[in-house]
Amino acid sequence: MAEIRHFLDLDLLDAASLRAIVDAGIAFKGGTTPPAVAAAFAGKTLAIILEKPSTRTRVSFDVGMQQLGGRVVVLSDSGSHLGRGETIADTARVLSRYVDVIVIRTDAHQRLHELAANASVPVINALTDQTHPCQIMGDIMTFEEHRGTITGKVVAWSGDGNNVAATWIHGAQRFGFELRLACPPSLAPPDAVVDWAKREGASVRVTDSPAEALAGADLVLTDVWVSMGDSDADKRKALLAPYRVDEALMARAKPDALFMHCLPAHRGEEVTEGVIDGPHSVVWDEAENRLHVQKGILAWCLG
Ligand code: CP
Ligand code: NVA
Repeated sequence: MAEIRHFLDLDLLDAASLRAIVDAGIAFKGGTTPPAVAAAFAGKTLAIILEKPSTRTRVSFDVGMQQLGGRVVVLSDSGSHLGRGETIADTARVLSRYVDVIVIRTDAHQRLHELAANASVPVINALTDQTHPCQIMGDIMTFEEHRGTITGKVVAWSGDGNNVAATWIHGAQRFGFELRLACPPSLAPPDAVVDWAKREGASVRVTDSPAEALAGADLVLTDVWVSMGDSDADKRKALLAPYRVDEALMARAKPDALFMHCLPAHRGEEVTEGVIDGPHSVVWDEAENRLHVQKGILAWCLG
């Protein structure tokens, strides 16, 4: 039997597959659905398990699957037996009898792996407490449609070293860009992820200085200071205040630098209104491209 194509994390996939998915996203955005892809999706069903809230991921996977000719079922904890203690492994075995691909957003990264280990259909990671690979794929697509290849460019992060930041580290290795992350030392990305990137020859540097990280950057990124599941909001906000992306910090980057934020955003916290609604910002293209790149991911998963 052919190996199941799970889309779990960028460090678990080879660079050529990831490049092909971004290129497919660009082609889907251009309106091209190859006949073989349309045929592959006819009559197929996607299950989306949401154990945390979502606007973009939920709607973009739902709409994307339908545009490809498939159907969608959404499961929440409260509306399924997951909320009453049925195991993720049993859920995987059951859903595999009904659907052709499963998307999951969960608070515990281990649940993603348990789902994949027990499913006989492809599983896609739609955010865990540790990573968010669909987001970074859409972001790379967005950078490239505005500025050409991201390989060799300078990407800078200012803020929490969270799940999105960790996935950018995976991306730096797989797509070959320089990544500088400015984070408070106590909120830096996990050492294991940074060490992996360095072992794999990636150019990744963690600093506590946003001004240093953003100097001459081609792309500036941030994310919320309090992610879903974080409990220490006041402490985080105090630690992260110097990392807010405002106009003065943005001016450290290249004059034509892009600004991205995975959204939802908190204007006045991690980013000022002037930056997110200003001339460098491409956040609406970024949100749109989740739809296109996830079609690429779905098509790759279904071979
Ligand atoms: N960026 C993102 O994943 O948004 P949602 O939480 O709305 O899905
Ligand atoms: N870091 C954020 C991303 C939301 C899309 C969170 O996990 O809540």
